[in-house]
Amino acid sequence: MKIIITGGAGFMGSNMIRYLLRTYKDVEVVNFDDLTYAGNLSNLSDLDLDPRYSFVKGNISKREDVEALLSKGADVLINYAAETHVDRSILDPDAFVQTNVMGVHNLLEAVRKFSIPRYVQISTDEVYGAVMEGESDEQSRFEPRSPYAASKAAGDLLCHASAVTFGTPVIVTHSVNFYGPYQFPEKLIPLFTTNLFDGKKVPVYGDGLQVREWIFTEDHCRAIDLIAQKGNIGEAYNIGTGHRMPNIELIQQLLKHTGRDESSLEYVLDRPGHDRRYALNSQKLRTELGWEPKMRFEEGIAQTIEWYKQHPEWIANCKSGAYKDYYESQYKHKGHSV
Ligand code: TYD
Repeated sequence: MKIIITGGAGFMGSNMIRYLLRTYKDVEVVNFDDLTYAGNLSNLSDLDLDPRYSFVKGNISKREDVEALLSKGADVLINYAAETHVDRSILDPDAFVQTNVMGVHNLLEAVRKFSIPRYVQISTDEVYGAVMEGESDEQSRFEPRSPYAASKAAGDLLCHASAVTFGTPVIVTHSVNFYGPYQFPEKLIPLFTTNLFDGKKVPVYGDGLQVREWIFTEDHCRAIDLIAQKGNIGEAYNIGTGHRMPNIELIQQLLKHTGRDESSLEYVLDRPGHDRRYALNSQKLRTELGWEPKMRFEEGIAQTIEWYKQHPEWIANCKSGAYKDYYESQYKHKGHSV
């Protein structure tokens, strides 16, 4: 079984690669990644010597890169490659359209051209927009409100259209917020945890009462694995845990775990267009495919914070970009295709 993970050097992609190699003996995993700011091969340095794993440098928004990759064939393609940070999409939306729209279009076209039998597109609950009450299910309207969410929604719609028009074997997944080891320190949990360790103040947007739903990486990996194997082609699946809370409640837990108090919090101007609440209905995945989240939030957040505590070098090098330079030179040296 050959599985291509695009965006495999990022947080979720690298966790998925590690999950697949740990779970299956006879699997070949190709990591295709352009090593942009959030792509970090040190996330996978422990796998360098595993003969089942290989790395190819490339960008999904370049058609020639995608065709070179998929022309070699694969059983499954899982696309994690994306621009994912809402704040960046407000500052520079261009990159989001390039990667999240053109990149997905290129993948869909190459999947058709080279007859790849299964393509799983990783997407987000943010496409449904703010849900003030109740939950979004797979039939809910797309009402994206940030350039990030709009670019993901556009990619998802291209997947849907390609499945309907051409019979492209694509499945789209919408997930709640991820957390766990190796998340780039621009997102709430790693940014706050690492800054609190250093005694720095952390910026709470607006009143901090925005609600997010959280899933631990391993639970998400299991869901994607199941969907890749048993999901219905042409359909979408929500992946949620029901574990929802206002940001400030989560931030209180981060303060407790890092030994800090409220004086570390700085209430700052709210993010423009900040979605007040997300909430996913994930009954379809649970009843049709039998998936359940296993990690309790309190346990998962404790493990995650402990991981950041044990990896100060990873954090420092991520923040300075040092890992990227080091690994690019290492891979050049080893004759890989960086
Ligand atoms: P984030 O991790 O950026 O994920 P998303 O915006 O995709 O949900 O943010 C999670 C929540 O935390 C979101 O409501 C915005 C808020 N937030 C802050 O209050 N301060 C921050 O510095 C960041 C990065 C996020």
